[in-house]
Amino acid sequence: MAAGTLSERMPAAALRPARTVVRWAVRHGLPAVYLQRGARGGDPVGRLLRHPAVRDEPYALYEEVRARGPLSRGSLGPVTASHAVASDILRSASFGVGWDRSAAPRLIRWALRFGDELDAAGVAEPPSMLVVDPPDHTRFRRLVSRAFTPRATAAFKPVVQRTADTLLDALELHSDKQGGEMDLVETYAAQLPVLVIADLLGVPTERREDFLRWGAAAAATLDPGLPFRRYVAAERALRAMHAFLREHFDQLRRVPGDDLVSRLVGLPEDEALTERELHATVMLLLGAGFETTVNLLGNAVVLLDGHRDQWDALLADPAGWDGAVEEVLRHDSPVQITGRSVRDDVVVGGWELRAGTRVTVLLGAANRDPDVFTDPARFDITRGNARDHLAFSAGIHYCVGAGLARMEGVIGLRSLAERFPALRVSGRPVRRNLQTLRGFEHLPVTLR
Ligand code: HEM
Repeated sequence: MAAGTLSERMPAAALRPARTVVRWAVRHGLPAVYLQRGARGGDPVGRLLRHPAVRDEPYALYEEVRARGPLSRGSLGPVTASHAVASDILRSASFGVGWDRSAAPRLIRWALRFGDELDAAGVAEPPSMLVVDPPDHTRFRRLVSRAFTPRATAAFKPVVQRTADTLLDALELHSDKQGGEMDLVETYAAQLPVLVIADLLGVPTERREDFLRWGAAAAATLDPGLPFRRYVAAERALRAMHAFLREHFDQLRRVPGDDLVSRLVGLPEDEALTERELHATVMLLLGAGFETTVNLLGNAVVLLDGHRDQWDALLADPAGWDGAVEEVLRHDSPVQITGRSVRDDVVVGGWELRAGTRVTVLLGAANRDPDVFTDPARFDITRGNARDHLAFSAGIHYCVGAGLARMEGVIGLRSLAERFPALRVSGRPVRRNLQTLRGFEHLPVTLR
């Protein structure tokens, strides 16, 4: 038999199915076993991630976690529902997002190496800035943050308003024909963010239905323990997205535009991103740009429909929309869960945590911490400190698009309410089958 490893001896295409299985096994299959076992033993994180009913309504479970103390044991490591502890962890240099692969068992190290393939990589795999520590994180973040400064975001306001108005014009036409019954996620809440981020990044808006499909698949890979069939579907979508990006980068190399992606593609040699870094960065910006904001818009409409007095108050005084968006972000956070790894041994929440320990941070629970928010389960758009939420995280990974998301929230919701003040949820909204992200897949409404 010829010398060399299996991957050196076989053509890449022949290994693809094996790589998919190994990738799924190490990223989802193995965590699923731990989570399932944990769920059976009553572990809250296991129940949260394995039981669909808990995922749909996680707030009672968050209170169980809170009652156990600032940090408690979960099947994937310690977990916190405390705003103070979450905030400390997210801001502390003793915690990072990366983990030391060299400390993993040999089989896992092999599996990670064998399964490693640019074209199958998701938004939460290195070198995505979401999951790398400084100095790489600093380098990526610096390259993109110029496009998201308060000034750059404000300059984008007319685009967001125009996009919302065009979508609402189409809804109006549709409502004349269909009597105003429609799925608001499909026709508006998903469309506005994808069109805005595509415009900002300079990727073709006419591919938006593809982006939405690929984005939904990418979002699923954020959840640990994905079943094999869903993972395979997600990977197929990721491959299509990488193929699109590769073609798009080639085109921008030939004919650059005046947009962020053209700038990233054409960086001078001493700053240039590798092909893999370029894919990871643009894929994250594109995916994070709409997969979260769609949830903000959908969650807001459902909450305001359930609190009609507050909807009416916003119609009477649109100055309240800024506060309303903060309260939606706090009350029903689009990103519910994140995690950090201990870099250096540290004491937090009264626990001594050893380097390598993985901590689950329940952002959605921290945002309902009664130590910070009075009567936290109450939805109140006039709440004075709603903006103290951690919905955009904190520390060095604080959401780069927070300003843009807030603006899309305010413009998108205010414009919708002013155009269709009698809008009502008309059927049962269906939650997305996701755990890390929280939002609606379908939101039936009548517009008039
Ligand atoms: C309501 C909408 C949004 C929410 C709730 C949200 C939430 C978050 C959260 C929680 C994180 C950090 C996760 C962690 O600390 O582990 C994050 C990071 C990020 N978000 Fe957002 N996001 C939203 C919209 C956007 C938009 C519109 C963009 C536009 C490009 C964006 C781009 C990013 C990027 C690039 C990161 C990574 C930052 C880093 O690692 O330094 N997000 N977002």
